Amino acid sequence: MELKNKTILVTGCAGFIGANLIKTLFRTKDSIKIIGIDNLCNYYDVGLKEYRLREIENAVSESKNGCWHFEKADIADRKKLTDIFERYRPTVTVNLAAQAGVRYSIINPYAYIESNIVGFFNVLDCCKTCGVSHFVYASSSSVYGDGAVTPFSEDDSANTPVSVYAATKKSDELLAFAYSKLHGIPSTGLRFFTVYGPAGRPDMAYYSFADKFVRGEKIKLYNFGNCKRDFTYIDDTVNGIIKVMESPPQIADGKVPHEIYNLGNNKPENLNDFVQILAEKLKKEGVLSPGFDLSDHIETVGMQPGDVTDTYADMTKFCTRFGFKPATDLRQGLGNFAAWYKKYYFG
Ligand SMILES: NC(=O)c1ccc[n+]([C@@H]2O[C@H](COP(=O)([O-])OP(=O)(O)OC[C@H]3O[C@@H](n4cnc5c(N)ncnc54)[C@H](O)[C@@H]3O)[C@@H](O)[C@H]2O)c1
Repeated sequence: MELKNKTILVTGCAGFIGANLIKTLFRTKDSIKIIGIDNLCNYYDVGLKEYRLREIENAVSESKNGCWHFEKADIADRKKLTDIFERYRPTVTVNLAAQAGVRYSIINPYAYIESNIVGFFNVLDCCKTCGVSHFVYASSSSVYGDGAVTPFSEDDSANTPVSVYAATKKSDELLAFAYSKLHGIPSTGLRFFTVYGPAGRPDMAYYSFADKFVRGEKIKLYNFGNCKRDFTYIDDTVNGIIKVMESPPQIADGKVPHEIYNLGNNKPENLNDFVQILAEKLKKEGVLSPGFDLSDHIETVGMQPGDVTDTYADMTKFCTRFGFKPATDLRQGLGNFAAWYKKYYFG
């Protein structure tokens, strides 16, 4: 499906992935109209969300006939959401709004039920009512729990989540499947794997580690540093989402038009190596002093509830369907993050 001239609705537009997706769409597609929804919740620094919205405005001004509308709204507010869908009648909807974060779901599970279950279902139902051509939504590698065989394959039952966050994401996949079957809505769920990059999420390890190093504090490496993550650079994630948006599952042969794909790097990195590269890149940018000694800033501790030791995406299904695979090297990606961090916080 050609996205040119289409109306696209993106929820979670002030979020890390949402804002980057929208900027790339404005930069690469002519004459698109994008409606962004976000409640600008204060789970992390709202200033960063406002910064991302300003970046979107810049991308619109440089686009070819791009049209942008921002709606501050909560997807759990059914009436408001219905009004927005009726007003704009999007062709493609991308649901990225969610209460993210595994650890916070232990402290405040209701926030996850509100945004990820009630809010998600509202978006899904609006897609049905408006007859969208493709509903794309964010799931997570967390659905694989702690017992899945690596690399994680979409064929795994993923029925043993270890956090409420993961359980809500798996529930979303089931709700989307049911709506695709009942109402024929072409929908695609994407299981993202630890997405990182400039202007990312301050609650995620790489960002909070940078903050702690700058403040001279120690970071905690869980499971004594014996964790592996399939870090996926933001541009790779965004390019993957766009490929998916352009290719809705076909309604054919009585098959339910619903698909789930991993979208990860297919190259898990050890947490210890990751932290070393991060510190090196922050030093190179002058964010950390040349004398910064990483070993003074690390505390190794046991595993914490809700976390998994390893994540590793099997990308066979995605590559076969879309001919695309993330390629950004961790050194390059963390270098870009460090350069952005310096500019954003130190001018
Ligand atoms: N970043 C990752 O590594 C990662 C990994 C797996 C899955 N995901 C999923 O990808 C999606 C995007 O993640 P992100 O990293 O950009 O997170 P993010 O927190 O930066 O973005 C989510 C945005 O949604 C908004 N939001 C939250 N609840 C809302 C609600 N009820 N109504 C309207 N807006 C709401 C927030 O204000 C935020 O701007 C989420 O669904 C997340 O669960 C992300």
